[in-house]
Amino acid sequence: MRVLITGGAGYIGSHTVLHVLGAGHDVEVVDDLRNSTASIMPRLEDLSGRSIPLHVLDLCDRDATDRLITEGNFDAVIHFAGLKAVGESVAQPLDYYDNNLNSTISLLRAMGRHGVRHLVFSSSATVYGDTALPPFQEKLPTSATNPYGWTKVMIEQILRDVAVADPSWRIALLRYFNPVGAHESGQIGEDPQGTPNNLMPYLAQVAVGRRERLAVYGNDYPTVDGTGMRDYIHVMDLAAGHVAALQALGRLEESVHTWNLGTGKPTSVLQMVAAFSRAVGRDLPYEVVARRPGDIAESYADPHLANVELNWRARRSVDEMCADTWRWQSLNPDGYPDA
Ligand code: NAD
Ligand code: WQD
Repeated sequence: MRVLITGGAGYIGSHTVLHVLGAGHDVEVVDDLRNSTASIMPRLEDLSGRSIPLHVLDLCDRDATDRLITEGNFDAVIHFAGLKAVGESVAQPLDYYDNNLNSTISLLRAMGRHGVRHLVFSSSATVYGDTALPPFQEKLPTSATNPYGWTKVMIEQILRDVAVADPSWRIALLRYFNPVGAHESGQIGEDPQGTPNNLMPYLAQVAVGRRERLAVYGNDYPTVDGTGMRDYIHVMDLAAGHVAALQALGRLEESVHTWNLGTGKPTSVLQMVAAFSRAVGRDLPYEVVARRPGDIAESYADPHLANVELNWRARRSVDEMCADTWRWQSLNPDGYPDA
């Protein structure tokens, strides 16, 4: 297959580029580099031994997106591009609705016009909102607690509507839980700009000396040790899930499929601090502070559907997630050059 990967210079997209190439497909990347850098591309080419065209354009630009799809002769698209910071989405909701919805609509129009109807979309466990209790199953109703989450709920609905209008579409809605870790080479990984919002990159920056200590957001939740529990999934397992979904789209009868990509096993913040400390070889400093507004106590997947229908499962342990994150962070203490 010839596969276009939108947002392929970003964290999850870049790891997926390697997996899709490894499965024998051709890949091109489109990214406007608003949250990534072109300096990742030579690393991806070195790791894969393949040349990977990068198209630098904003997918909201309908003419440019149309030209890209016309000229690319793609069989399928994996759509990662979008803004993803929950707190920023609360402060700047219009930026999130504008970019995430318009880039997707522009892409869908171009794909529809040129007969490219296989799409894998990056959704999120955030669509389970804060009403149901885990393990979350795909059949639960969706909702959100912030504008970022609503963009995922809305795009899922747009994709279902597109497939009703033209059932020849084949669409995978992949709901990721908490992606962490890095490629085992240590050459690519997560490189957030500014202060990290998420646990794992924050811990990694504490470990490498860029931050003093981790703030643990609350230890009075009804969990094993009072701290929040999440379903962390290694980004390379997540990447493999995209290849499995891409291949499944060719053989499945129904137009739209929704799959959770998670391990099904939650880990607490303090358990993650302990695991990361083991990877680094010394205790990492932390202090318990107040709960972060909007957090839930516990989130984890029921991954059964993806296990059975995609013949895929997350295999890597929390210790491997920490070891690989640490290799990336210690080899690249300041992230990518010119990021
Ligand atoms: P990322 O920011 O590293 O990657 C997204 C990429 O999209 C960036 O390289 C950015 O430059 C690009 N981009 C954004 N808007 C664009 C536009 N209009 N045109 C072209 N390129 C554009 O994020 P990530 O962590 O790799 O996430 C990838 C996808 O997975 C996102 O859709 C995100 O919402 C979703 N997701 C992420 C997580 C997570 O915890 N990282 C969890 C669930 C879902
Ligand atoms: C994990 C746990 C925190 C940072 C977010 C988005 C979600 C999805 C994945 C995109 C929680 C605790 C964190 C810190 C801490 N993204 N924590 N100190 O909130 O589960 O999910 O990323 O779709 O939509 O909301 O991930 O890594 O921020 O938090 O104690 O400095 O770590 O309270 O219990 P979260 P996270």
